[in-house]
Amino acid sequence: ANARGDDIASLARYMQSKTCRNVFLMLGAGISTAAGIPDFRSPDTGLYANLARLNLPYPEAVFEINFFRRHPEPFYMLAKELYPGKFRPTLTHSFVRLLASKSLLHTCFTQNIDTLERRAGVPAGKIIEAHGSFATQRCIECKRPYDDEKMKKAVKEGSIPRCENAKCKGTGKTRRNEFGEEEKERGLVKPDIVFFGEGLPDEFHRAIPTLREADLLIVMGTSLTVRPFAMLAELVREGCLRVLINLEKVGDLGDREDDIVCLGKCDEIVQELARELGWEEELQKAWEA
Ligand code: OAD
Repeated sequence: ANARGDDIASLARYMQSKTCRNVFLMLGAGISTAAGIPDFRSPDTGLYANLARLNLPYPEAVFEINFFRRHPEPFYMLAKELYPGKFRPTLTHSFVRLLASKSLLHTCFTQNIDTLERRAGVPAGKIIEAHGSFATQRCIECKRPYDDEKMKKAVKEGSIPRCENAKCKGTGKTRRNEFGEEEKERGLVKPDIVFFGEGLPDEFHRAIPTLREADLLIVMGTSLTVRPFAMLAELVREGCLRVLINLEKVGDLGDREDDIVCLGKCDEIVQELARELGWEEELQKAWEA
């Protein structure tokens, strides 16, 4: 057996032992690339390497709240492509569902905004969407929620939705309405995705202390470059086994004595792991369902 095979076998044994009760996950864009959604930072295929057409001062600007307030157009061009609905969960998402159905999953922290964890059938109560999602949206100024169907329509048409609250003061700027009257320009509507410059949801902060209960932490498909999410991996106790499943080594995974690093495509590694656990057929069924 190769080193990876040995690691996966010992991981499976640990998962089947009585010691392993609370499994925590940290997920990123790499688990959805097989679904056809680009990640952010992969050199040629990542989103940030392919935004030249949006004429941004720098790629991350498309997800910055202050930039959005002045120039919402690039984000809405991108939203059209990234909008959930067209994509199907991957084998890795189905593996997360199996962890939940086997009562091993404590919490799945995800940075992904594609809602594929929910769509794969992972119970909502087990998922912390740390960077929000496309599922809901609101005015960035007065915070009033905006209708789902109207949002879908706007994204599809490539128009930029504005708050419908008559009392919304927006940024305080005025403009002429269709009758030539001056009125306050209402705030922009944005999906409840956490942009750079915004705080993470309360539920993320509330879940942090539970990491102390982790017996196993699996980090998958993330470059671990965005804080505060990245720091979660440092918060588990020394006795907690940490596993990285990713194309490349990231963060400090591999630095602790017992860390396991499995480099490769997550769907392939997860499949090997499922085979070791005797879950292979079940995984295949869950994915095909
Ligand atoms: P990144 O694009 O930064 O990292 C994706 C990681 O997954 C990289 O390390 C890839 O090598 C790896 N990867 C890609 N395909 C893979 C595969 N099939 N199997 C295994 N690994 C694979 O994405 P994130 O870490 O999720 O934030 O990015 C973090 C945050 O930065 C995002 O949530 C987003 C972004 O700016 C916001 O939009 C607020």
